[in-house]
Amino acid sequence: MTKKVIIANWKMNPQSLTEAKKIVTAITTKVSHFKKVSVIIAPPVIYLESLAKLQNTTLAGQNLFWEESGAYTGEHSGTMLAKSGATYVIVGHSERRAMGETNEMVNKKVKAALKAGLKPILCIGESVRDEKGDYHTFIKEQIMQSLAGLKKVNLKNVIIAYEPVWAIGKNAKREATPAESLEMSIFIKKVLSDMFGAVATKTVALIYGGSVNTKNAEAFLSDGGVDGVLVGRESLTPLKFIQIVYSAEHLS
Ligand code: 13P
Repeated sequence: MTKKVIIANWKMNPQSLTEAKKIVTAITTKVSHFKKVSVIIAPPVIYLESLAKLQNTTLAGQNLFWEESGAYTGEHSGTMLAKSGATYVIVGHSERRAMGETNEMVNKKVKAALKAGLKPILCIGESVRDEKGDYHTFIKEQIMQSLAGLKKVNLKNVIIAYEPVWAIGKNAKREATPAESLEMSIFIKKVLSDMFGAVATKTVALIYGGSVNTKNAEAFLSDGGVDGVLVGRESLTPLKFIQIVYSAEHLS
């Protein structure tokens, strides 16, 4: 049995370490005994080291730079994240791509993460859905360019998060449906299989993100063709996030 992966992407929240600790403690107290779910929390990097001291907490960075050290003001390396207590790191989130991150940069970050012993959570997703289905070509390019040069054996340490940009955040046009998630999961696996073969593709965890909430999480988990979900806004409210984790633990 593979565990479902539920990831909290806090983005640039909350506003203090005290609040961050409260949220983590509220969540872990309720879910750490669950057997069928792995919970990962991605806080702002400045809180990582303190949160890593709390019990039963698995953490992710939200970004990293590909160089190891040097004159890169404002950046942090994979090794720094790992030493601060992160096990995973989100790479290529759409909000970073909107600030200018390209597939080539994402590729360097994925490789740097693996080199530092971190598991990259690679985000992919189209901004718009055209009727002709050109978004498939866009997603295929994102995957091929972001994972270029990886070895088959790396794939077991990679999570791919499909996050359609049009379904993210409070200005989202609409929610995606579990059927759309399922269709994309089949497509993404086909692209991976063409690149790395069917056996290695089976080792990649594929998750869905974009307006996941207490009402739709169970449907994505059971019908969306995914191994988990990446939650933004609702991950900051412990009661709501716990309910999402609960629905993963109690899937029939
Ligand atoms: P929301 O759940 O707030 O739409 O954010 C999704 C997201 O970007 C997670 O990485």
